[in-house]
Amino acid sequence: MTATESAHLLAGKTALVSGVANRWSIATAIARAYRAHGASLVLTYEGERTKPEVDKLAQELGQSVVAQCDVSADQSIADLHGLLSESGMRLNALVHSIAFARKEELSGKYLATSRAGFALALDVSAYSLVALCRELAPLFSDAASVVALTYLGSVRAVPNYNIMGVAKAALESSVRYLAADLGQMGGVRVNAISAGPIKTASARAVGGFTSILSDVAAKSPLRRNAVADDVANAAVFLASDLSCAITGHVLYVDAGYNIMGIT
Ligand SMILES: NC(=O)c1ccc[n+]([C@@H]2O[C@H](COP(=O)([O-])OP(=O)(O)OC[C@H]3O[C@@H](n4cnc5c(N)ncnc54)[C@H](O)[C@@H]3O)[C@@H](O)[C@H]2O)c1
Repeated sequence: MTATESAHLLAGKTALVSGVANRWSIATAIARAYRAHGASLVLTYEGERTKPEVDKLAQELGQSVVAQCDVSADQSIADLHGLLSESGMRLNALVHSIAFARKEELSGKYLATSRAGFALALDVSAYSLVALCRELAPLFSDAASVVALTYLGSVRAVPNYNIMGVAKAALESSVRYLAADLGQMGGVRVNAISAGPIKTASARAVGGFTSILSDVAAKSPLRRNAVADDVANAAVFLASDLSCAITGHVLYVDAGYNIMGIT
């Protein structure tokens, strides 16, 4: 069923979607799906390099405000808050679709992870969710929904995923703690989607990514990979009132790969 055939699940809602870098980004698919379901958007971009792509997407989708936010800088997050509150904006949904680790730490042994590389990956990929939630919480509407993107490498030792797996474990744990905190503040919900491997710029930085893709397609119960649109549809559900009693949860959108034992 396409969005036009189904109900507009996000009509009247405003969603901030971070992490659009290019047309392959999972955030791009989520932004498209949110608009198709009637949401207005705030699209945030990391820096000048990604701005043109985000401007292009905003123009194409309409009803979209574009704002810069480098999540590694507290001031940048505060500036985002300032910009949105000046215009009296309320947020019904926040999508965290951001991760970064040094490429050299996404291959070989986890044992070789440097102190600086560990701190950088955890800061950008996990702490940023805490910082964004804290700074933007005053703008959240009652029952707002926060959605973060994670991966199976948080709970399994996936070759080459290394420090990013540890960062995703911290992200998933943060989802539970934030759900406990924010649930008491206007019923805000916080969940994660654990997406199967999808060919994006970030994914290609992980050593041996192509063989992970073919392995999942061969061994998952559905005998295919999840695609960005599958993740986007789940993100619509989590931002919609249909999921109003779900919080602190990690929802796997991976064609079932995570349930398999010996494959
Ligand atoms: N592609 C996959 O296989 C896969 C699977 C599971 C989870 N994920 C997660 O999905 C999310 C989106 O990744 P993607 O695969 O779409 O790749 P992507 O490269 O398209 O997106 C990553 C985004 O992170 C942003 N980013 C990095 N550092 C930032 C900073 N300091 N401030 C603001 N933004 C910053 C980049 O600008 C980019 O837009 C990530 O959390 C990733 O770990 C991806």
